[in-house]
Amino acid sequence: MKDVRIAPSILAADFANLQQDIDLVNQSQADWFHLDIMDGVFVPNISFGMPVIKAISKHATKPLDTHLMIVDPDRYIKTFAGLGVNYLTVHYEACTHLHRTLQAIKAEGMKAGVALNPHTNIALLEDTIQDIDLVCVMSVNPGFGGQKFIENTYSKVVNLKNLILQKNAPTLIEIDGGVTDQNAKKLADCGADVLVAGSFVFGSKNPAETIKNLKELTH
Ligand code: DX5
Ligand code: ZN
Repeated sequence: MKDVRIAPSILAADFANLQQDIDLVNQSQADWFHLDIMDGVFVPNISFGMPVIKAISKHATKPLDTHLMIVDPDRYIKTFAGLGVNYLTVHYEACTHLHRTLQAIKAEGMKAGVALNPHTNIALLEDTIQDIDLVCVMSVNPGFGGQKFIENTYSKVVNLKNLILQKNAPTLIEIDGGVTDQNAKKLADCGADVLVAGSFVFGSKNPAETIKNLKELTH
């Protein structure tokens, strides 16, 4: 059976009780923490930055999967490595020299991820896929939690899976945005390896149970 990883997005957590929500994820069946960094330029919203990641890093016992929705991410690669980030994902649309950026992330000992906006075609990764540890397929337009899942994502995941197999690349497929119990299984069947879920997890009555259910659904 395929083991799909679940990565709760801290964007939907209770920031006034962050340690409580970090512990909840630590004790749950979740696999990673998903941290959304927004700069108000690449996306029309500002989330949180270094001091919050530092605080999360102190308590988290699972890998930190950090999604940078910022322009010119190269400026902060060393800083994120120093904060204990494991996966550092940059946006394809924000990188002029993507190959160089990926090498710089790996040189700092982190796994390198590339996120694609809903309009960005999978084929654009044909020449870099072998250098990418994770592709984050955005299933909403980045910037906000709680948005509606874009149905075209399924065919993008199938295309990406084909590209990975064709190139024999080690890349994981992550889906980010609008993930619920309604689309989790189909996404896993299309080839997804990691599901990010924010509002569906933290907006539920029992987040640990919701994480467990998502995990079971994708088996
Ligand atoms: C959106 C972020 C997502 C977001 C997902 O820009 O990248 O990670 O937190 O939230 P939900 O699961 O509520 O769509
Ligand atoms: Zn994200």
